[in-house]
Amino acid sequence: MFEQLQPIKADAILSLSVEYRADNNPNKIDLGVGVYKTETGETPVLAAVKQAEAFLLQNQPSKTYLAPTGNVGFNQSMLELVFGKDHVVMTNKRARAVQAPGGTGALSLASRLIARCNSNANVWVSNPTWANHIPLIQGAGLTIKEYTYYDTAAKSIDFDGMMDDLRGGLVAGDVVLVHGCCHNPCGADLSLEQWKQLTDLLNEKGVTPFVDLAYQGFGSGLEQDVAGLRYMAANVKEMLVAASCSKNFGLYRERVGATMVVSETEQAASNAVDNLGVVARAIWSMPPDHGAAVVETILASEELTNVWHGELIEMCDRINGLRSLVANSLKEAGVAQSFDFMNNENGMFSFLGITPEQVAQLKTDFSIYMVSSSRINVAGLNANNLPYFADAMKKVVG
Ligand SMILES: Cc1ncc(COP(=O)(O)O)c(C=O)c1O
Repeated sequence: MFEQLQPIKADAILSLSVEYRADNNPNKIDLGVGVYKTETGETPVLAAVKQAEAFLLQNQPSKTYLAPTGNVGFNQSMLELVFGKDHVVMTNKRARAVQAPGGTGALSLASRLIARCNSNANVWVSNPTWANHIPLIQGAGLTIKEYTYYDTAAKSIDFDGMMDDLRGGLVAGDVVLVHGCCHNPCGADLSLEQWKQLTDLLNEKGVTPFVDLAYQGFGSGLEQDVAGLRYMAANVKEMLVAASCSKNFGLYRERVGATMVVSETEQAASNAVDNLGVVARAIWSMPPDHGAAVVETILASEELTNVWHGELIEMCDRINGLRSLVANSLKEAGVAQSFDFMNNENGMFSFLGITPEQVAQLKTDFSIYMVSSSRINVAGLNANNLPYFADAMKKVVG
């Protein structure tokens, strides 16, 4: 049977990493892969995680199975982290969470729940969006539609274009996927006012919002990054959220995330969780425990939560500091175009807005690696490599 299979073209970001590793240039810079890096180019295990792991090593009583819906304490802490303890969907018990393997698992689980409710639903994604959204939503049997989002020339959101596409195309029962904060790949986020206008439109059309929250705490802070999501949750009947702990807890390979459902009633929320459990049971039976146990341990301890908050603020401040440093360094190196727009964006990603040919030349002549769309991971830059990067940009972009 395997002779039926065709070779698969290598994933663009993963093959970029392979090329980067094989490059012997001591000045090489990896701006491709989407993981946080420190000033010295590392992605260390957070101290809060190490302390929680040490605690678990000593105190975890058993490794027996949990439920398909995962760790109850983790699910509750994630709801509190995302919505806040006192949010109306929490006090009236309309919000529930199910543990999933990473943000990807959370998105897949949510997509399969949508398909159970309405297999004809179109899921609208921003153009551009995180590349994996499309296959994973289609993998649940749903149809993808795209809405305008980023204006490459203006280097900002085309909100009018977005609203026009949605107003013209949405059908009752559809789902609109929105990046909660730190849009991947463009870094340009909706303002609170835009979240409000979007909420009104979705209500008017009878359409369910689905928020992908992969970077809470990486934009402006844990609370600020979910202001739009919380507003929306308080003003819609139903909502889905896929949260990831990969970036903000640095737990990438542990695969920790949660699918959250806001339903119209407590009973409907409970039914949704039961259905999510049935879906999970048929795929991975139950999610991996370790990362979720770590997150649960951190969030259950005031001391560890404080350590984690400190580390998260440090990562967030470094990214935001780098954004203005990069824009200024390019200006000082004499690059003609302005990169000040990077200061208005959030999280690790921005499009430089250069051509695929210039991206290719940066790689071949200077060993600077980024995806052909010119999306960079800002956290791949640091005081050491920034002058080299700015000089290369001047030579290639002018
Ligand atoms: C927008 C977005 N959503 C979801 C994910 C998935 O994250 P995870 O590694 O937790 O599956 C990512 C990861 O890069 C992402 O950028």
